[in-house]
Amino acid sequence: METPSDTAVVGPFVGAIDEGTTSARFIIFRAGTDDIVCYHQIEVPSIFQKEGWCEQDPMVIVNTVNECIAGATKKLTSLGGQIKDIITIGITNQRESTVIWDRNTGQPLANAIIWLDNRTTSTVEELLEAIPNNARNINYLRPLCGLPLSPYFSGVKLRWLRDNVPTVKAAMDSGVAMFGTIDTWLMYNLTGGKNGGVHKTDVTNASRTMLMNIETLQWDPNLLKFFGLPKTILPEICSSAEFYGSLAQGVLKGTSITADLGDQQAALVGQQCLSKGQAKATYGTGCFLLYNTGPSIVHSQHGLLTTVGYQLGRKATPYYALEGSVSIAGAAFNWLRDNIGLIQNSGQIEAMAATVDNSLDVYFVPAFNGLYAPYWNQDARGVICGLSEETTSEHIVRATLEAVCFQVRDILDSMHKDCKIPLAKLMVDGGMTVNNLFLQLQSDLVGIHVLRAKIAETTALGAAMAAYKAVENRYSMEAPLSKSGPREPVKPTIGSTERNLRYQKWKMAIDRSLNWETSTLPQGEREAFDGA
Ligand SMILES: *[C@@H]1O[C@H](CO)[C@@H](O)[C@H](O)[C@H]1NC(C)=O
Ligand SMILES: *[C@@H]1O[C@H](CO)[C@@H](O)[C@H](O)[C@H]1NC(C)=O
Ligand SMILES: *[C@@H]1O[C@H](CO)[C@@H](O)[C@H](O)[C@H]1NC(C)=O
Repeated sequence: METPSDTAVVGPFVGAIDEGTTSARFIIFRAGTDDIVCYHQIEVPSIFQKEGWCEQDPMVIVNTVNECIAGATKKLTSLGGQIKDIITIGITNQRESTVIWDRNTGQPLANAIIWLDNRTTSTVEELLEAIPNNARNINYLRPLCGLPLSPYFSGVKLRWLRDNVPTVKAAMDSGVAMFGTIDTWLMYNLTGGKNGGVHKTDVTNASRTMLMNIETLQWDPNLLKFFGLPKTILPEICSSAEFYGSLAQGVLKGTSITADLGDQQAALVGQQCLSKGQAKATYGTGCFLLYNTGPSIVHSQHGLLTTVGYQLGRKATPYYALEGSVSIAGAAFNWLRDNIGLIQNSGQIEAMAATVDNSLDVYFVPAFNGLYAPYWNQDARGVICGLSEETTSEHIVRATLEAVCFQVRDILDSMHKDCKIPLAKLMVDGGMTVNNLFLQLQSDLVGIHVLRAKIAETTALGAAMAAYKAVENRYSMEAPLSKSGPREPVKPTIGSTERNLRYQKWKMAIDRSLNWETSTLPQGEREAFDGA
């Protein structure tokens, strides 16, 4: 009795706009599951006008997202699905990237400054000078916004735009300028632009601007004053899951947008880290960790960031998170491949590392640009130590995998010390997690259960889950997402004695990497060195 229509995909569906640093995607999920029905993805080019700058054209971003929506819905139709069964849409995007536009024309006033752009290094310097009592304390604003002064955050980028782009300054002064992170810009444009488009953001995005008070979850007049920015540019702050607006045109005209989450926060939701003590790690060239601290705000003593995790509904309790990152994770393997030639491709890593039983006491600290949390030593440089006559490439590859694991342990230990909440389990995603040996090492070296996501798109999934929750209150976000049941944890196979010994050895390797950069030599020695 099987007819073609029996195999057609059946709704309801939830769409997720995932606007990343290098590409945009529109993904269609079966509602309430991690089942991806279809998606469409297009690269978004970055513009590098000067060294250290990184921009994107906000118009290109909008057009790309619209093409992704058109592409994915076309695929849905060809699979027999109905576009009208897409009941709602969530947005997730790269955080901190900053767009400014004109409310009269609906057009951008400048290119978007992407999060990794560091033209604002000098702006941070100027802002440090403005701190009272000549204190130059990068943590001066931390009690208000949870963040240290850093070139990344939108408040600093906005200040740069005001100081350096006359049209932006004029628009700010006359009240026609509107600011948004990419989510806000997209939502504004997609819901009608200058003709009634909504100007909104969610608490997770707002928490990364340095302009929102981390306690009240509102824009803070003292922070605005510090950055010299007018309140008129700011969007309304909403929860991560509520009705934002409806699409004004295109095939999805009339469809509601009901979720907006920062990418790392969306991954926290997509990984179902929905109670305190749960953490997720996303392994890419670097590694991003978020640790759910529940409804309490934890101010880190180890330089980690305090951020809003999510607030799923206007009246819902906000959940907070500690955020930390490892700057060199997968990037260490790129270095082994491109600079040293020890491997040809990342596909070899697992097999090579598995040919040896251990790293033969080799430790690799890939502190190429210094060490961040929890060491905060800018002058650290990479070391590979413990080499002997028996050391082979395989040992070094294995030590590189372990280096990622140890760095993650460094951050998790700091998070644990800050919040005293025991880590229940670590949810992992990202490119490196296809490597089973790596997951085993991560579990062994931290001493916890490690659970791999069943799909790679945890960020989009989190946005879709939050969007669905906003329209279907009976939906339990903790429910199993997959027909194939819960995920199998990878469990530690070594005992705490061995684990602690290995970690002590890692700390010895860290000691050897610290203060390597010669600028920190005492004056006399430095002159001798320069003269040599
Ligand atoms: C950011 O600045 C550093 C110097 O402080 C520079 O080496 C780096 O290349 C810059 N980032 C980008 C994206 O170019
Ligand atoms: C959205 O942005 C695009 C690209 O800038 C523009 O062509 C379009 O008119 C905008 N839509 C609205 C409704 O303003
Ligand atoms: C802002 O919201 C988007 C979703 O629209 C999300 O992807 C992004 O991560 C949020 N930004 C921050 C800083 O959390």
